[in-house]
Amino acid sequence: RFIKSLTTSPSSHIVRRGYASEAVPERKVTVLGAAGGIGQPLSLLMKLNPLVSNLALYDIANTPGVAADVSHINTRSEVVGYASDAELGKALEGADVVIIPAGVPRKPGMTRDDLFNINAGIVKGLCEAIAKHCPNALVNMISNPVNSTVPIAAEVFKKAGTYDPKRLFGVTTLDVVRAKTFYAGKAMVPVAEVNVPVVGGHAGITILPLFSQATPKANLSDEVITALTKRTQDGGTEVVEAKAGKGSATLSMAYAGAIFADACLKGLNGVPDVIECSFVQSTVTELPFFASRMQHSGASSLFYSCIFAMEVRLGKNGVEEVLGLGPLSDFEKEGLEKSKPELKSSIEKGIKFATQ
Ligand code: NAI
Repeated sequence: RFIKSLTTSPSSHIVRRGYASEAVPERKVTVLGAAGGIGQPLSLLMKLNPLVSNLALYDIANTPGVAADVSHINTRSEVVGYASDAELGKALEGADVVIIPAGVPRKPGMTRDDLFNINAGIVKGLCEAIAKHCPNALVNMISNPVNSTVPIAAEVFKKAGTYDPKRLFGVTTLDVVRAKTFYAGKAMVPVAEVNVPVVGGHAGITILPLFSQATPKANLSDEVITALTKRTQDGGTEVVEAKAGKGSATLSMAYAGAIFADACLKGLNGVPDVIECSFVQSTVTELPFFASRMQHSGASSLFYSCIFAMEVRLGKNGVEEVLGLGPLSDFEKEGLEKSKPELKSSIEKGIKFATQ
């Protein structure tokens, strides 16, 4: 059941020397739900990441095949597959970053909230195991509805006495990836240079791309901004409908998940000025959670009272600083107000589930 593979080919030794492995710390990344539509390409991308030394792949189905397959790639990390509940503890032990894409995806006509009944229980169980086996890991929550699964995780960790708001992240990176791609297309600027903060939450109108802060600047009409905002908010549904019953975004999500996990690892390793958007606890709004921009880095005793997606600075202990929302256009201010009731009720639903 255990698939273990040390990279031993001559070329992998060259790769190790190339990365000056003495200088790159050992980092264990665990993927929970590693054999799924997101889990497989995400595991592949984490195997390609030179910052990872140990890659633990856990799923309740099909893990041995995925782990064997990924383990043959001649990059730095050692890959181990874990295939059952009994092995979950070992998968998590010593993890620096835990990525959770476990759970069911949407089908056409479903909202993310429709996934709540199944995914809430999955996430709760996995977070209980995290609290027990790797309470200091940075947790990257991908499973939907993120607006509720992050509060569930927070409550589970609080109950276990391990909650640290600096270490729990709702992954909203795909919203940023989409906003950047769609903006570049309309603004006619090179997509690699584009930055667009996306704040709020991760469902429908709670996804708030701040195109007024997008760079490089472009003079887009209100009509175009409205259309770009709607397309970013409906990006997930666009993919669900195109896949016509065969799941939701997996490849773009794996890319986004890999970007976010890489940012977490860089923060842990002390790389300065690592900034990403994420759904984290903060004091930016009166809501308990909000996706925001952040910078990963050293310890600071920030006190957060709400969860909201925003830009955050990442560091050695996870969130180092939650960056403010910055100046909003009237259209964005209106969107923010409209999003609050839905976000609040999704957060409360998660808290209620976890505490009842
Ligand atoms: P999938 O059904 O292809 O894969 C899910 C995997 O989770 C399966 O391999 C399944 O065996 C596994 N799993 C189920 N229960 C588990 C447990 N208790 N422990 C470990 N593994 C377990 O689904 P897909 O497409 O990979 O999506 C996964 C989740 O990610 C869904 O909830 C989906 O809505 C969400 N998602 C989130 C996005 C975001 O931007 N945050 C974007 C796209 C999807």
